[in-house]
Amino acid sequence: MTAKGYILCGLLFCSSFSVFAGEGMWLPLLLKQLNEAEMQSMGMKMTAEDIYSVNNGSLKDAIVHFGGFCTGEVISDKGLVLTNHHCGYRQIQSHSTLENNYLDDGFWAYRQDQEIPNPGLFVTFIVKIEDVTAQILDGYEEGMADVIRDKIVEKNLASLRQSYAREDYQDVMVRPFFKGNQYFLFVTETYNDVRLVGAPPSSIGKFGADTDNWEWPRHTGDFSLFRIYASPDNKPADYSPDNVPFKPRHHLPISLDGVSEGDFTLVFGFPGRTNEYLPSVAVEMQVDVLNPIKIGVRDAALKVIDAAMRADADVKIKYASKQAGIANAWKKWIGESQGIEKTNGVENIRAMESTFQQRVLANEDWKASYGNLLKDYDRLYTSMEPYAKTRDLVSEIAGRNIELFRLVNYLDRYVALYQRSGEAAFNDRKDRLISYLENFFKDYRKDVDRDVFKSVIQLYYENSNPSHIDPNAVAYFTKVDKSYDKLTAYLYDNAVLLNEDKMMAALKGDPAGLMKSIEEDPAYQFCRSIVEHVRTVLAPMGEINAEIEMLDRTYMKALMEVFPEKNFYPDANSTMRVTYGQVKGYEPRDAVYYQPVTYLDGVMEKYVPGDYEFDVPAKLIELYKAKDYGQYADTNGQIPICFLGSNHTTGGNSGSPAIDAHGNLIGLNFDRVWEGTMSDLYYDASICRNIMVDARYILFLIDKFAGAERLVQEMTLVHPKK
Ligand code: ARG
Ligand code: GLU
Repeated sequence: MTAKGYILCGLLFCSSFSVFAGEGMWLPLLLKQLNEAEMQSMGMKMTAEDIYSVNNGSLKDAIVHFGGFCTGEVISDKGLVLTNHHCGYRQIQSHSTLENNYLDDGFWAYRQDQEIPNPGLFVTFIVKIEDVTAQILDGYEEGMADVIRDKIVEKNLASLRQSYAREDYQDVMVRPFFKGNQYFLFVTETYNDVRLVGAPPSSIGKFGADTDNWEWPRHTGDFSLFRIYASPDNKPADYSPDNVPFKPRHHLPISLDGVSEGDFTLVFGFPGRTNEYLPSVAVEMQVDVLNPIKIGVRDAALKVIDAAMRADADVKIKYASKQAGIANAWKKWIGESQGIEKTNGVENIRAMESTFQQRVLANEDWKASYGNLLKDYDRLYTSMEPYAKTRDLVSEIAGRNIELFRLVNYLDRYVALYQRSGEAAFNDRKDRLISYLENFFKDYRKDVDRDVFKSVIQLYYENSNPSHIDPNAVAYFTKVDKSYDKLTAYLYDNAVLLNEDKMMAALKGDPAGLMKSIEEDPAYQFCRSIVEHVRTVLAPMGEINAEIEMLDRTYMKALMEVFPEKNFYPDANSTMRVTYGQVKGYEPRDAVYYQPVTYLDGVMEKYVPGDYEFDVPAKLIELYKAKDYGQYADTNGQIPICFLGSNHTTGGNSGSPAIDAHGNLIGLNFDRVWEGTMSDLYYDASICRNIMVDARYILFLIDKFAGAERLVQEMTLVHPKK
């Protein structure tokens, strides 16, 4: 859409709060009531019951929350799970060494006994979802004070969790929806023995890396394969060599027929967090003030880490996963801020708010309960802003990008434990500390962290609110003649904490000695002082946040009453959701139209031999030259790579299946387009698109590229269009 188009759209409220086909992350159990008719009108041939059913096997039985941060789906009756390469990245990285470099070379288990266990990794199925609002709010009456409401909710929650009938291998969780106006309960089953089965080399699974991340046109084969293992009676079990491949209630058939523009697409998964109902004042603060602060810190950290990874193969392995996490959000925030600006997001939300206010003022009851909501928001966000700036600046510096701080924050818990509960309590938890330190040092390079520190700590001194900065940190800085070189050298040269041998030796001795060396460490003192100080500085924010939370609940309720013509969906909260749309291109700029499907030709167009981001494996080039595509080519004779849809997705939807009108897998969700990353705050149907890998590319890679036919053989391949 052109700039003029966006403005027109704003005046007609065409985006804010008019839900378009495409917008929305819907609860599976409410599809029948809210969405089925629209879904069928968009081409879906299934019923809501085919997607979510408690009593019969349905699509939902093939969907898992992968590790609590991504989605996966079961694609064989032997518990084979498909997810993204970037979702399995931590695991692939952790099994990689310079000799066995699965990041660079890929990994394939050609036999079942080669599948690699992953301690700590789990997948969770949803057995059943139930609306428990009435039970949770039992005893609450409109008009009661919020503290009383909170107490009632807490008590009812605890008793419901206790009393709810379930099997002993199941869990029950309850989550608030619509800002606490509704509550839903989830019965879950979690499997802890999840093994790595296959992953392409990064030159396929992360093809295009950060340059292409969040962008279209895209050519990434972003997938990996895992397998769920269960006890011999098919129940959740911790890792054991006696475990057997899990037999699911349902696995997704895979379509070989591919997609065309306009085809129905359904994405089923676990979106993490969105904020679709923020007032304009909050959105403005997010994109104009807070995003730039976070982006600035990551800019500085990434410059150092990227350069070190390109220069040193050891750093490249050790920092692969850390760098990906930092870079991913960094680029997303840039896109989000640009997207809100380009679509006039803030103005459009303001226009919606003024309609809201008009309607509220025209109704005496509403006027009394809702008349001041927007004014209150303005007041609260205005008083929050200086704190939020400090929170984001310091959390990026001391909570994320400088590893020394991360180590100090972790050790600090043990220091506190020792001081509070004594030696015995400390010794009880010592094994955990040891394994944390082993993991920390396994992927740590002091030289890299030191350079990150030197660059990032400058932002603390230069960009902190003068009344929020830690006086001790200022004193330190003065002592070293305000030289970042000297400050860095002073802390990193002397830090016992960063000396693995010394730390491990100290851990073997008595805890008092260890505590003494930690507490006397200048690096420990420096970091801890900053963290403690910011905690004090931010104390008043707790109250502001609590007030905002109360306001959010009322505002959400008000929106639903004041705009009865809209179909509202709850913000993402890491619970299971369905989003549906169509295969669809878009217009990123005037006169430019992006086609919705990419092909292997495009991989070859981007190919730069030996490049850090755009190299292509020799085997793939061979297959391309020989046109050896088997049954996986599109009708045009080419291998499709990625396609676009108008499904409303967010972080956590990575690895979600893209499902066709009949319930077959057609693709694997892994990203959104740059122009539309603001959809977490503000969805614009004209440019918000999700990006999926075509299922046929995945099959082609497993079969032809990796030669792992045994895996294709256990899947169910179908031809729904024939
Ligand atoms: N942007 C996608 C997501 O949000 C993919 C990230 C993985 N790729 C990368 N280059 N870091 O997770
Ligand atoms: N790559 C994202 C993830 O890890 C999904 C993309 C998005 O945020 O939409 O979940």
